[in-house]
Amino acid sequence: MKVVEEMVMAARGFHELPQEVKAKYYTRDVMKKVKYGSNFDLYKSKYANWRDTLFCVMGPEPLDPQELPPIWRSDETMEYSRQLQVLGKHLFQLLSEALGLKHDHLEGMDCAKGHLILSHYYPACPEPELTMGTTRHSDPDFLTILIQDQIGGLQVLNQNEWIDVPPVPGALVVNIGDLLQLISNDKFKSVEHRVLANHRGPRVSVACFLTPHLYPTTRVYGPIKELLSQNNPPVYRETSLQDFVAHYNNKGLDGKSALAYFKLLQ
Ligand code: OGA
Ligand code: NI
Repeated sequence: MKVVEEMVMAARGFHELPQEVKAKYYTRDVMKKVKYGSNFDLYKSKYANWRDTLFCVMGPEPLDPQELPPIWRSDETMEYSRQLQVLGKHLFQLLSEALGLKHDHLEGMDCAKGHLILSHYYPACPEPELTMGTTRHSDPDFLTILIQDQIGGLQVLNQNEWIDVPPVPGALVVNIGDLLQLISNDKFKSVEHRVLANHRGPRVSVACFLTPHLYPTTRVYGPIKELLSQNNPPVYRETSLQDFVAHYNNKGLDGKSALAYFKLLQ
């Protein structure tokens, strides 16, 4: 519980620093491991979202702590990052078994290798009906583990209906990402979700994307062979992580699934 509260405080602390201090971390360079900005898809999307984000690639290659903003470099944040990596491993073991595979199958595909931490800050919005905190999307990773503070606004899509995900102190929200849907050949579905803009704020959330982002690997990801049969042919073609992420970023949060582009014609 404590480490969760400390992460929210560290995220809030960074975003409430003076603009000049935060500006040092502002970049749109996709190869940077530490980035601060607003709307990664600002020049592609129709609407700007009411949100700023600090994006940090925490692994698999160790990040030089000097690259991180000092307020984000504490023992607590490093401990959270370590603990999430362990939790991620456990979850991938359970998910492997749920697919009827050996418990280390997903880890063997490097799903648990590394993670990014995105700390989001949604300022109070004077006209929340005109925009979104985060537009409808599913995540470009295998699995997401999210902390949200007490403000609320997160919703998931269930049978064409938006359902509130009410904040529960100390609770983590776990979402399947697009890459897990792709390799499980649609057995697991990535959940579509969004965040409403709100008169009340700021709202702080910390998302951990489990995926070996920016890891220089030549591995390609397609539906897991052991899951395929004549009755269950592959739904998706293979892709490298780099191509998947490039497509996702290039498309931006336009409300459509990034997976459609990787679907095989049936
Ligand atoms: C995300 C996300 C939700 C939130 O980072 O992909 O959906 O509550 N975040 O900020
Ligand atoms: Ni998301």
